[in-house]
Amino acid sequence: MSVVFPLVVAVDGPAGSGKSSVSKEVARRLGFGFLDTGAAYRALAWHVEASGVDTDDAASVVSCLPSFAYRIGTDPAGYAVHVGEVDVTTAIRDPEISAVVSRVARVPEVRTHLIELFRSIIAEEPTAGIVVEGRDITTVVAPDAPVRILLTASEDVRIARRSAELVGDSAQAAGEQLHRRDEADSKVVDFMTAADGVTTVDSTELDFDQTVDAVIGVIRATQPEA
Ligand code: DC
Repeated sequence: MSVVFPLVVAVDGPAGSGKSSVSKEVARRLGFGFLDTGAAYRALAWHVEASGVDTDDAASVVSCLPSFAYRIGTDPAGYAVHVGEVDVTTAIRDPEISAVVSRVARVPEVRTHLIELFRSIIAEEPTAGIVVEGRDITTVVAPDAPVRILLTASEDVRIARRSAELVGDSAQAAGEQLHRRDEADSKVVDFMTAADGVTTVDSTELDFDQTVDAVIGVIRATQPEA
């Protein structure tokens, strides 16, 4: 019996590029699953903090991996993130988590652990395809994906979008954090330049619907049946 793998659409990009919301909508329109890999790094940062462990100490962060009971569904309409029985869907978006998540994500053992987890979620996807978004999906998690996209936007536009999301937070603080996080994250994986064979979608001049259409256009250019 042959195993049929889902069609993997790999989407990478910097913070505030809109890749989560765009990928989720693309998945919804195509009837595909959706996997937000950044949510796993955020949930681990939450778990490390909840365990009273210093996020700056790599060995202590690694010691939290065996107890990290991470659960995420791939239905784009029922997006929820759990650690054990705790629903952390909202808590992982807290600026406090955004401020420390890069420290957790740079630990090599963390990346190995989560990359394996992502691959097993992808392999178990029950629908015909899955849109997987993050920073290293096109290059490390699923380098053989039939569709690989780098979703970018100018830093000014990304900061403006992010500060509009953060009620009560000043645009300046949001901008500084986004810039700092991109700088820290890009030391670990390069998500600012498209790797060989990766199609760039620049959403600087596009609104949400136009960006969704552009991504679906890239998918259909190579996979007309999608
Ligand atoms: O996309 P996001 O902002 O939710 O990602 C949270 C953090 O996780 C981000 O600072 C970088 C890290 N990350 C990563 O290193 N690799 C991924 N595939 C996804 C996210």
